[in-house]
Amino acid sequence: MADNTDPLVLFMPSGKRGRFPHGTPILTAGRELGVYIESVCGGRGICGRCQIEIQSGNFAKHGISSSGSSISPPGPKEQRYAKKRELKPGRRLSCSSTIQGDLVVDIPAEVQVNAQVVRKADDGRYIERNPAIHLCYVEVPEPDMHNPLGDFDRLKAALIKDWSNSADGNSNWDDLTIDHHLLTRLQPVLRKGQWKVTAVIHEDKSATHPALIGLYPGFHNEAYGIACDIGSTTIAMHLVSLLSGATIASSGTSNPQIRFGEDLMSRVSWVMMNPDGREAMTTVVRKTLNDLISQVCGEANIVADDIFNMTFVGNPIMHHLFLGIDPTELGVAPFALAVSSAVQIFASELDLQVNPGARVYVLPCIAGHVGADAAAVTLAEGPHRQDELMLLVDVGTNAEIVLGNKERTVAASSPTGPAFEGAEISCGQRAAPGAIERVRINPVTLEPRIRIIGVEKWSDEEGFEEESAIHGITGVCGSGIIEVVAEMYLADIITNDGVIDGKMAKKSDRIIANGRTWSYILWRGTQELTITQTDIRAIQLAKAALYAGIRLLMDKMGIGAIEQIRLAGAFGSFIDPKYAMILGLIPDCELDNVHAVGNAAGVGAKMALLNRNHRREIEDTVRRIEKIETALETDFQQHFVNAMALPNKVEPFPKLQKQIKLPDINTQTATETTANSQPRRRRRTRGS
Ligand code: FES
Repeated sequence: MADNTDPLVLFMPSGKRGRFPHGTPILTAGRELGVYIESVCGGRGICGRCQIEIQSGNFAKHGISSSGSSISPPGPKEQRYAKKRELKPGRRLSCSSTIQGDLVVDIPAEVQVNAQVVRKADDGRYIERNPAIHLCYVEVPEPDMHNPLGDFDRLKAALIKDWSNSADGNSNWDDLTIDHHLLTRLQPVLRKGQWKVTAVIHEDKSATHPALIGLYPGFHNEAYGIACDIGSTTIAMHLVSLLSGATIASSGTSNPQIRFGEDLMSRVSWVMMNPDGREAMTTVVRKTLNDLISQVCGEANIVADDIFNMTFVGNPIMHHLFLGIDPTELGVAPFALAVSSAVQIFASELDLQVNPGARVYVLPCIAGHVGADAAAVTLAEGPHRQDELMLLVDVGTNAEIVLGNKERTVAASSPTGPAFEGAEISCGQRAAPGAIERVRINPVTLEPRIRIIGVEKWSDEEGFEEESAIHGITGVCGSGIIEVVAEMYLADIITNDGVIDGKMAKKSDRIIANGRTWSYILWRGTQELTITQTDIRAIQLAKAALYAGIRLLMDKMGIGAIEQIRLAGAFGSFIDPKYAMILGLIPDCELDNVHAVGNAAGVGAKMALLNRNHRREIEDTVRRIEKIETALETDFQQHFVNAMALPNKVEPFPKLQKQIKLPDINTQTATETTANSQPRRRRRTRGS
């Protein structure tokens, strides 16, 4: 029992603190406070996974004066490790060093002991580790004639003796089970290792029992996991060290299901119309996942057999097809998921070529249209962890929207359609080299400047012509479409109700008649790229659907303004928030508080891979999120009609207007134009 005179120890970055008697091993102190410090060798001074750094100085805020003299000097175990494996300056082994006074202990973000590991850039955030996989080195008593216990039972007894209550503060391994695939290999492995083995234990509350899922002869010092985001367009995979938390390889590829249908609706239709359609799409996605696994393993120079845990996220249709579930029910009201809670399953049941004992955790889905990908974005960005209201928008064929704070969170999806991805636009295309991604229009001459993917220079800069010739200028991608429509509005080429103004033809020969409407020539080259009135309408319909969904959630929360906006996904990464706001795609907000968060779904998957608490956190959050079905809400239609105007018929966007002068709003025209506008019929599926 510690008393008030015992040394005070503060662990960073978690901030957990407590008093411990002199001589307490730092590893033990950390464990008692629930600070996850890795250990594979059980404190034998072999694995080096328990490294820490002592912060020196006077930490007045915490009332601690910490110095190297408050920790025991390196003993023989630590000296041996430092000599054999090199301990970086300032690093200590927490299993072999004891508390001698007040301390501030830093857990390095990544304790790298494996020299071959190559770090890959990820979003760089620190994720405290508490994985579902433990590596436990153990020495097992040899069998003898007087003790009839089986090899597994003696191994289990040794694990309980050395490790129970140390790998995880709440561990109870009395009911440890062994996977069947290991039973047949157990005896040769024990003998090969001369009764010294490294056990791989999987333990997670939502799985039934802690289980022995892998076994290595002798000492083994690495285990890996995979975090994967299965999008309807692309699949992104990260290979992560479960012991250091480092992302060591990443890869991505197109979702091969595209050949069955570009958007999700057509994939569901494919399943409905082809008896083996579901199976075909499940097979191709799993094959691609296996290809990606080989790729990341090759890049990191590891074997897939060392992969023991995987987390997956995806929209509901991707989620179902990956798990081998027929998604037909998601295509029609009431859009019933086969399962909305998190799924724990063997990787082998999903044909994934990793260690036969590997376990898969699939994050929960929020609703029939708001998937595990939106749950992962929520986990990554954490509206439920803060006081300020945060809006998360993941734009795809359908937009998934989450709005809330720690008090309350609501979610919905909006049928935006594929316009933001370049479909339904006459010169639209997917984001690829040669696609126009940035547009500026001179408000006096109406001459455009453009930038294309793959070329850094603007079109009026020297060298653009030569560099752009490599790819050609092939079309306009989603971010380019947002910019060109917004710039046309700022240059008065279109009115605030979205009509291309024929009067502007007097000002520029880029405005041309197109039947009864007008078009704007964005690019004259080998291929002429023109923005037509129909294109503008498609963007208006898409953005109005998105905004109406957001507005509905704001009504539910009883709020008129949003403090923070996060744009997730590939589309969110490339659109300029300013232009998104000028179009009225997202609500008025301080521009500095609008951020693209890239593949936040992948980050959420990685958080769930590395820390079981994050799994419980998102399971609990998803249970509490209120699901709003936009199709059932009578106000959706009115919000949609208002949002057809640029940026909006009734909302003045004061924060945006402080920074950008918007053309005068002509509400009369807007009313006339939008009176006949209808939100697109709810698409039957949602996409990412
Ligand atoms: Fe293995 Fe400290 S726990 S070296």
